[in-house]
Amino acid sequence: MSGPDLRISATPEEAARECSSYILSLLAGKQHATFAISGGSTPKLLFTDLAKAEFDWSKVHIFWVDERCVPPDSKDSNYRLADETLLGPAKIPASNIHRIYGELPPPEAAARYVADIRAAFALKNGELPVFDVLHRGMGGDAHTASLFPGTPLVHDRTGIATNVWVEKMKMDRITLLPGVLLAAQHTVLQVAGAEKAEALHNVLREPEDFEKYPCQIASRDERAVWFLDQAAAAKL
Ligand code: 6PG
Repeated sequence: MSGPDLRISATPEEAARECSSYILSLLAGKQHATFAISGGSTPKLLFTDLAKAEFDWSKVHIFWVDERCVPPDSKDSNYRLADETLLGPAKIPASNIHRIYGELPPPEAAARYVADIRAAFALKNGELPVFDVLHRGMGGDAHTASLFPGTPLVHDRTGIATNVWVEKMKMDRITLLPGVLLAAQHTVLQVAGAEKAEALHNVLREPEDFEKYPCQIASRDERAVWFLDQAAAAKL
């Protein structure tokens, strides 16, 4: 099996531009496309670039890789970041937006999201959704989505999404599960900053250990394309 495609740019801004063009090339021309996006701070540049492009978003359905259990107007909400920088500016139709209801009690938010995904993908029992494009970030501790080091959830291959208490953040979150990350047609990872360099080295170069480095899930084969700035790539 060949490895992932690593695209290294001089700056986070350039990396975001490259990432944006690549994602649009994957989504373009489809009659119905599914795009799962991440949160945190890194995607802001990407979302802004995506929103600036001349692109017909009417065929693209937006989902989230994970969400913090906060109301949608909280500064910590992944939905809010996307709404302010992409969904609103690009005028993505409300019926295409499949947000996670972070304001609900966590088990209810997870169940509602699973039901929404099942309906949107017309899934039969036991089937997993196959996202056309699944966009992920990585934390300095090698987490991805809301799968943090040490969580047994990294071994789940059957679930779609779940709620999880993240002790490190002292917060409940809703996250897609590994089976869905592994099933995605295209995985696009966007990582920037020197504080990610060590984790990036471990994720890409250390032997596979999903509990230690959850971001290794579905990120080390040819279906994964990484958009990096030089600072993040410094230890590769
Ligand atoms: C979130 C995420 C998460 C994120 C990484 C990187 O809700 O925080 O979706 O998995 O991608 O934590 O976050 P930064 O871009 O803020 O470094």
